[in-house]
Amino acid sequence: MDRRFAKGVNQGVAPVTYGTGDRPPRGDYANARADYTCEQQWARYTEADHDTYRRLYTRQLQQLPGRACDEFIAAVQQLGTPDRIPRFDAVSERLLKATGWQIVGVPGLIPEEAFFALLAARKFPVTDWIRKPEEFDYVVEPDVFHDLFGHVPLLFNPVFADYMQAYGAGGLKASRLDACELLARLYWYTVEFGLIATPQGLRAYGAGILSSAGELPHSVHSPEPQRVAFGLQRLMRSRYRIDTFQATYFVIDSFQQLFDATAPDFTPVYAEVRARIERDGEVEAGQVLPGERLFAV
Ligand SMILES: [Fe+2]
Repeated sequence: MDRRFAKGVNQGVAPVTYGTGDRPPRGDYANARADYTCEQQWARYTEADHDTYRRLYTRQLQQLPGRACDEFIAAVQQLGTPDRIPRFDAVSERLLKATGWQIVGVPGLIPEEAFFALLAARKFPVTDWIRKPEEFDYVVEPDVFHDLFGHVPLLFNPVFADYMQAYGAGGLKASRLDACELLARLYWYTVEFGLIATPQGLRAYGAGILSSAGELPHSVHSPEPQRVAFGLQRLMRSRYRIDTFQATYFVIDSFQQLFDATAPDFTPVYAEVRARIERDGEVEAGQVLPGERLFAV
């Protein structure tokens, strides 16, 4: 049996994956605007769709204590009642007041330039469709549950919200420097699969973890994966896994640390990382380098 299905992985997806697969992205792109945003068309959701959302939400909510960071738990209620797939405009209204962010509907994965441009404008793209009941434990592309439940609560945190905008601005620049692959690793290992150290222990803040029933306990409690202290260049040299749970997680001390470490211009960073990869190679998922600061569970 495929390990993904066995463990119920619902992984995050790096923005660079649009258009690189062997099939077109799922979703109705015919009605999307030039910037790839679209109307949510809330009335189109069926009772089965709402039920799927409610069941996913309920299952994940029960798993949060002791595993998700406090900032996430404090904000998840901002999504509103779990009985219905939230209306994007209602969530946006609350988000706009809190941190100046909005969420916008998209048909699914969008090209990286469009993705970066939306983030830089403090707009988070949320896929409008929800997985089928038979995809309850595993969906290949991110759906409305992953995007809303996984990503939106932390956009209510002012520091993390600023980090996401800076990431979008950095992405637009990376496109010009042909460095999107390195920058995608930052997204993957922070926004999707990041852990944070707290006085109570390790907690998850990455959306790929928080929206996954299997990876949430795995990331925080399992002795299997390596948990390495966040380092920008180390992270950019590191490969990641897309078809099973992560073998390495990077641990930040605070969102401020993440913001500060990624605030400077990445142009020299990309050059140094490329030179280092040329000399020493990439770091494999699960590999630990000599002298690294690791976190135990
Ligand atoms: Fe995601």
